[in-house]
Amino acid sequence: MRITVIGTGYLGVTHAACMAELGFEVMGLDVDVEKVAALADGRVPFYEPGLQELMREQIAAGRLSFTTDYAELAAWAGDGAVHFVSVGTPQKKGEYAADMTYVDAAFESIARAIAHQGRSLVVGKSTVPVGTAARIADRLAELAPNAEVAWNPEFLREGYAVQDTLHPDRLVIGVRSEQAEADLRHLYARLLAEKVPLVVTDFPTAELVKVSANSFLAVKISFINAMAEVCEAAGADVMQLSQALSYDPRIGGRFLVPGLGFGGGCLPKDIRAFMARAGELGVDQALAFLKEVDAINMRRRARTVDLAREQCDGSLLGKRVAVWGAAFKPESDDIRDSPALNVAASIHLQGAQVTVYDPKATDNARKMFPTLSYADSALEAADQADVILHLTEWKEFRELDPAAVGGLVRSTRIIDGRNALDAAAWRAAGWTYRALGRP
Ligand code: UDX
Repeated sequence: MRITVIGTGYLGVTHAACMAELGFEVMGLDVDVEKVAALADGRVPFYEPGLQELMREQIAAGRLSFTTDYAELAAWAGDGAVHFVSVGTPQKKGEYAADMTYVDAAFESIARAIAHQGRSLVVGKSTVPVGTAARIADRLAELAPNAEVAWNPEFLREGYAVQDTLHPDRLVIGVRSEQAEADLRHLYARLLAEKVPLVVTDFPTAELVKVSANSFLAVKISFINAMAEVCEAAGADVMQLSQALSYDPRIGGRFLVPGLGFGGGCLPKDIRAFMARAGELGVDQALAFLKEVDAINMRRRARTVDLAREQCDGSLLGKRVAVWGAAFKPESDDIRDSPALNVAASIHLQGAQVTVYDPKATDNARKMFPTLSYADSALEAADQADVILHLTEWKEFRELDPAAVGGLVRSTRIIDGRNALDAAAWRAAGWTYRALGRP
């Protein structure tokens, strides 16, 4: 059984490399010629711990290759193959709904390429509006009658992509036949032997698991951030509140860290696409709360800008602001909908000179926000700053010596947008330490 992976973003590259690691021969496809050239050369075009090494091992072992040509891919894979589709579903411009252009084009292209082959399975991994799998299955029945569709949503987190793929919390497969289930059980045999829970279900349930999981995570984050707003008004401490809540096993402490809120290529656009789809299905009321979740999340960004202005004595004009962090979260160079960069850009627009430093995401940030300044280290960014904003919780920021940083700045004021620094240590070194939701 040969495997192909169509779409080599975060999800696709990781899935391809991990399937090769599981012992299968895998070919990845992307329409981006430059990306494919880099991947074929063993270079991963983004930062993901462990992925580059895994890719190189699998390419060297002859189990992993890449192409831009659907005909080549189909001929190589032959009958009985499993084709995964893992292209992106970004938010449509000016709308909440997901842009399905890439998904539709990928299924259309693979269907045409395998039209005259024997049996094969085409498995969707992209996060899609519920109902997509059934629609695609109808189309495939016309174009490639021997091919069957299955849906297998992916729950990997950036920064832990390899680990999450090889040791997932669960596997979910939406299938319409025993053969499709058998094929996927064979593919994931090693994971199933390790007792990874498997849920075998229908198409719409499989599609919904993914968006409801992301919605739940977004709810948890916005819940604690809403509590942070109340804490600010009441003079309470949201970190202690969160800690006390976390001891209740029904609540749990994960995704209950208050701060600047969620960003990235998944959570924000997935909850919006889910709301849009619910509207189409006539159940928009059921998801009306997600609008509030989104609003709470966006308010944290505005509040952080306000806090920076307060720390600069009421005006950002002409002030020097150091921003630590540009990625949407640590262990990633992904800046899609990054709260850190959103705040940095807003402060810049209010007349401050903003200098950003991120351990991995500086190059990406510079391309998207060329008018901000960039430094090569946290200390360089802090030079002569009127205030420092800690906006992405990289470990290296926690390891800095507050006293040493204090010698560089114009004013010892720091805002911890991630509630991750040691407040007592910074205060002991003479800093005014402020954080969201804390006195
Ligand atoms: C998410 C889901 O976790 C994953 O299962 C899905 O497949 C894709 O979307 P990812 O986007 O990689 O993964 O990031 P995640 O680790 O979930 O963090 C999302 C955002 O929430 C980040 O901006 C992070 O900083 C923020 N966050 C997370 C908080 O603000 N507080 C928390 O307690 C946890």
